[in-house]
Amino acid sequence: MNATNVKPAEGKLGVLVVGLGAVTSTFMTGVLMARKGLSKPVGSMTQYDKIRVGKGADKKYLKYEDIVPIAKLDDIVFGAWDVYPANAYESAINCEVLKEKDINPVKDELEAIKPMKAAFDHNYAKRLDGENIMVGKTRWEMVEQLREDIRNFKKENGLDRVVVLWAASTEVYVPVDENVHGTLAALEAAMKADDKEHIAPSMCYAYAALAEGAPFIMGAPNTTVDIPAMWELSEKTGMPIAGKDFKTGQTLVKSGFAPIIGTRCLGLSGWFSTNILGNRDGLVLDEPANFRTKEVSKLSTLESILVPEEQPDLYTDYYHKVRINYYPPRNDNKEGWDNIDIFGWMGYPMQIKINFLCRDSILAAPLCLDLVLLSDLAARAGRHGIQRFLSFFLKSPMHDYTKGEVPVNHLFQQYVMLKNAIREMGGYEADEEID
Ligand SMILES: NC(=O)c1ccc[n+]([C@@H]2O[C@H](COP(=O)([O-])OP(=O)(O)OC[C@H]3O[C@@H](n4cnc5c(N)ncnc54)[C@H](O)[C@@H]3O)[C@@H](O)[C@H]2O)c1
Repeated sequence: MNATNVKPAEGKLGVLVVGLGAVTSTFMTGVLMARKGLSKPVGSMTQYDKIRVGKGADKKYLKYEDIVPIAKLDDIVFGAWDVYPANAYESAINCEVLKEKDINPVKDELEAIKPMKAAFDHNYAKRLDGENIMVGKTRWEMVEQLREDIRNFKKENGLDRVVVLWAASTEVYVPVDENVHGTLAALEAAMKADDKEHIAPSMCYAYAALAEGAPFIMGAPNTTVDIPAMWELSEKTGMPIAGKDFKTGQTLVKSGFAPIIGTRCLGLSGWFSTNILGNRDGLVLDEPANFRTKEVSKLSTLESILVPEEQPDLYTDYYHKVRINYYPPRNDNKEGWDNIDIFGWMGYPMQIKINFLCRDSILAAPLCLDLVLLSDLAARAGRHGIQRFLSFFLKSPMHDYTKGEVPVNHLFQQYVMLKNAIREMGGYEADEEID
């Protein structure tokens, strides 16, 4: 390994997940199975990808762990909070993502992962009615309880570091309100005043994580850490934050396919994306206020790749529509359809159809692993605030919109950002050479 200023990944890494549902039980089972050599962590960049370092005769392609100190799968210890009391084994069985034969070899370890009581407010996810929740606590008391949970988890398991990952249900849309979310002082005041309208439970988790020196990752589209107050807290505590919304199926395709249209200077008149999904995520998103949060996140992808101001002839007024339909028979096996109306020479129309039969949690699990390991790396590298290099993994990448920063949604530009951050943390020069 080259000279690097990143602290070594010594000791155990605690991974505390908010939400012990389809995504996280699949994530945990896969990590535990891989640890035993019984499965492969397919789709994980940190486990498979190789990055070129150096140029010309000096160039070589190295795995991430040979460039920067990445925590080992063996050093991960899982914990969770959930609204329902099911342990990780029961959750993996109930979600029906994985076959029992792929869960049973790690049954004992999964059973030991029992969710702590959730900081929950029914008004933020009306379709959920679990009873494993904190009762009668104000927002600020929730923060205090969560902080204690994190400290206890760390102590009981002899952990060196903790990362907190939100992969719980999508909350209802909370628009950014400058008066409450604009500064850390205002946010803390609202939490202390138990302002239930502006303070989502997810903000309590994020606040608690950052205050306890743990990076926080937002895997759903919630505005939670996408507000100036949380950026301020992450700077103050020196912790990285990442979000929002795992980029798994349809949006991955969109951010990889839209560059084909843009690079070839073809026109776009419309892009219609719809899918059917039958898991609990789909059930929660069937509620219009929760879907709104997802819609905002999914719609943002095209605008920064096919930009009307840059190519008015090609991209003015294209119609972009996104739908999610709850359809129980498909459970976690989502089916997505994209109809893309493009136009070419002299404005003649053409159509592209994409039909993606995917598995939601199978696509999301490796993103959980990569986001956790890379956030832990970022913390040891002394990086704090929004981690833009993680945009690659996210549908609606965070950026400082108060300074006019624009998000990068283009998959291949995001990949360059990811590779350069790893290079720099590894003591190599960033570059934009073609591999
Ligand atoms: N799978 C994907 O491809 C994908 C992609 C992008 C984003 N996501 C997001 O990831 C999240 C998880 O997806 P999933 O399929 O595992 O859903 P899921 O419904 O199976 O699991 C979510 C769990 O979160 C729990 N929960 C809800 N509010 C909570 C709170 N305040 N505290 C603690 N636990 C809480 C629920 O009880 C549930 O068990 C969703 O928000 C989803 O939108 C998933």
